[in-house]
Amino acid sequence: MTDPAVRLKQVSKRFKAGVDILTGIDLAVAPGELVALVGASGCGKTTLLRMAAGLEEPSEGSVEVLGRSPAQACALRQVGVAFQRAALVPSRTALENVQLTLAITRRTDGLDPSQLLRDFGLGEHLHAYPHQLSGGMQQRVNIAAALVHQPQILLLDEPLGALDEITRESMTEWLAGVLARTRPTTLLVTHSVEEAVVLADRVVILSRYPGRIAHDIPIHLPRPRDIWGKPSAEFQETVRTVRGHLHAVLRATGI
Ligand SMILES: Nc1ncnc2c1ncn2[C@@H]1O[C@H](COP(=O)(O)OP(=O)(O)O)[C@@H](O)[C@H]1O
Ligand SMILES: [Mg+2]
Repeated sequence: MTDPAVRLKQVSKRFKAGVDILTGIDLAVAPGELVALVGASGCGKTTLLRMAAGLEEPSEGSVEVLGRSPAQACALRQVGVAFQRAALVPSRTALENVQLTLAITRRTDGLDPSQLLRDFGLGEHLHAYPHQLSGGMQQRVNIAAALVHQPQILLLDEPLGALDEITRESMTEWLAGVLARTRPTTLLVTHSVEEAVVLADRVVILSRYPGRIAHDIPIHLPRPRDIWGKPSAEFQETVRTVRGHLHAVLRATGI
């Protein structure tokens, strides 16, 4: 078996003594695999992603990215990150913000920034500044900036959260397309079960107080999973199963 690209071993995290946010997390993500993380608000999803990005240290256990510490993997520019709030440079246009990633990472084999933005439905807005874009558009630029350099590892924290439903559906398709082409190892936090089932190879459900892996569900549906027009019975059944598990976990933690 190939080594996992991301590996968390017996990871616990607490911010104050006696209160474990996450505990006993064992998670191995294979190269090219996309794992969706779902769970109640406050269960530690962002914290888990921040540990994978080297922004937070585990209290116990270890986190390895590409066989190194997360900080080393980030220093090698092998990690693309998009967190919940878009982190764009206000004085640069959408296109310039995406180009900036290529400049910083010095990657010459990245995707074409303007094509990527067009693929994300922003062809008319390449030269707009962040303040001229809606929150959803900024979020799309943010995602483009996270993956334009084709990082081996992609960490996405509710990247589609700020989008309205219609844009969200298109964006899920665009994202699925880009990820199918570039195949980064991806950890995706989402609160949408549909989104998780469309995009993921595995859906991991976290419980809360403390956050543990409650379920780890492989998704074997064929791709592309074009579900918006006419979801297959198999797709609907998978969504129902995942949602059933998630709701049972939420009920058990009193939400
Ligand atoms: N830097 C921090 N200091 C103290 N508590 C934190 C910090 N970051 C997160 N937490 C707490 O950890 C818990 C999990 O947060 P988070 O990872 O953001 O959850 P999620 O992303 O699943 O909603 C929450 O109770 C949050 O208040
Ligand atoms: Mg979060």
